[in-house]
Amino acid sequence: MCPALKPEENGISRKGFIRSVLAMGGLAISYGTFGAFIMRYLWPVKKNTKQKIYVSSAKNIRVGETVTFSTPQGETYILTNREVDGKNTFSAYSNRCPHLGCKVIWEHASSRFYCPCHGGVFNEKGVAIAGPPAKANQSLKKCDIEVIDSAIYALSG
Ligand code: FES
Repeated sequence: MCPALKPEENGISRKGFIRSVLAMGGLAISYGTFGAFIMRYLWPVKKNTKQKIYVSSAKNIRVGETVTFSTPQGETYILTNREVDGKNTFSAYSNRCPHLGCKVIWEHASSRFYCPCHGGVFNEKGVAIAGPPAKANQSLKKCDIEVIDSAIYALSG
């Protein structure tokens, strides 16, 4: 051992030196953990919390027909089937009018959603085009749909 580095001669015992190193290591771990919590708080990990809910077989919904379904969050949607460019096109919008919450209905002949309470009208994409919802720029909430092997799923959450 190098005589110049003998801890006992500098007034620091070997045990004291080891304790100091352990204490500094403990502090470094503590500050590192605290820093990790701060980073997690400032930049939280975004989880894909969407749930896939089976709604129906595509074969069971002919063009012009609808299916109403509810999500685990308690929201109810109307699944519609429209023919667009010769293909079945499924989409789902909330059955709750954003004006005052009445139930909307799908009118296939007009390709629109209609709210009977105050005459709110929404186009096939849920955009308000007449009545109080149009004045307030309130549209129907959309639910994403996925069709896999003719099974229709709603992506909720
Ligand atoms: S609740 Fe639908 S238009 Fe008023």
